Amino acid sequence: MDRPIGVIDSGVGGLTVARELMRQLPKEQLIYLGDTVRCPYGPRPKEEVVRFTTEMVTFLMEKQIKMLVIACNTATAFTLDYLREKLTIPVIGVIDPGARAAIKVTETKAIGVIGTEGTIKSQAYPEALKQISAGLNIYDLACPQFVPLVESGHFSSEAAEQVVETSLEPLKRHKELDTLILGCTHYPLLTDWIQKAMGEHVSIISSGEETAREVSAIMSYQKIACDGKRIPDHQFYTTGSPILFEQIANRWMDYPVNTVEQIVIDQ
Ligand code: SIN
Repeated sequence: MDRPIGVIDSGVGGLTVARELMRQLPKEQLIYLGDTVRCPYGPRPKEEVVRFTTEMVTFLMEKQIKMLVIACNTATAFTLDYLREKLTIPVIGVIDPGARAAIKVTETKAIGVIGTEGTIKSQAYPEALKQISAGLNIYDLACPQFVPLVESGHFSSEAAEQVVETSLEPLKRHKELDTLILGCTHYPLLTDWIQKAMGEHVSIISSGEETAREVSAIMSYQKIACDGKRIPDHQFYTTGSPILFEQIANRWMDYPVNTVEQIVIDQ
């Protein structure tokens, strides 16, 4: 029960999910690993994403994690089923929770999905949405420029606003669209620009909140929730620059991220 929850992402985007896990499950200890040096995963072939994700999982399994959260949509789309079969611990992805949250909110049943090329090509969101509800109109769009913007730390800049505005142009033509899923965990760092570009009438869905709810439900069901006797000391690892990781993490998280360790996983 006192064992940590492992959280993986291609870089810093999964921190948006980690923040929500810390908020909803303050007693749980997290170990976060971001594969920043090989980010983005979005344009990579499936085999490569599977290999990179498996390397991250091997590192975390050695840390005795009790549950794995794949806080990356591209990795979820390509590895969730495989990892669920391979591991004996519960494995949670971010796509189903995001789809559920969108369906709760939409009134027009017209839902937009933005994500990396990999996630959009995989059709994982339309499949997840259609499995929950029939009669939806789904408009998806790959936004390959967003992840590099976030990883560079320039997500608050005017240049970022311009990129978001231009990239979302094709979606704005669908006037009935009232809900937009951020199908990449990096995108919540661009929420202000995305909301501005789409207009206030569009609800922006980030899967972090719903994912944390699912983690909580599964831990209660499996009786593996932490009993809360110690203050969690979260650990952060990156395969890239710990300095940039730390800067972005401290702009985004409510938890002070002071020690980020750089590791090598592609041995
Ligand atoms: C990426 O590495 O390209 C983005 C991660 C994600 O899909 O959430």
